[in-house]
Amino acid sequence: MAGTRDSGGAVGAVGRRTVIAAAGGAGLAAAVLTACGGSDGSGAQGGAGSAGTDAGTVIASTADIPEGGGAVVGGLVVTQPRAGEFKAFSAKCTHAGCAVKDVVDGVIRCPCHGSAFDASDGTVKTGPATAPLPATAIAVKDGSIVLA
Ligand code: FES
Repeated sequence: MAGTRDSGGAVGAVGRRTVIAAAGGAGLAAAVLTACGGSDGSGAQGGAGSAGTDAGTVIASTADIPEGGGAVVGGLVVTQPRAGEFKAFSAKCTHAGCAVKDVVDGVIRCPCHGSAFDASDGTVKTGPATAPLPATAIAVKDGSIVLA
């Protein structure tokens, strides 16, 4: 990137400004969605806020949440631990604030340091996290999972 080109310096400067300006909006969105990396994890909460916190807000379709698995939607991880039973928790890992990622075989996993949480109640199955993922009240209406 730090090239040795000596022509077009002014154009390069304008180009950089343009890139920075263009990346501003997208970069902010990426920062909110990519909670992992911030030690305080405040980005994860921002993601939850941007997804809406009002009762009735649709957060996912039941068809998108596999039985025994789940999906991270904004700042929430939505799971289906048993057929037809849906749960939602904060996707912000209670260890250091990364966003949890995978939900497989009833376990929510954090990619940062390996913590694992029970997909049915958010409790810690494997550390280093010691606190459960906070639950979020949801309801199922007409095939959609909504905030309760
Ligand atoms: S932040 Fe999730 S295990 Fe460390």
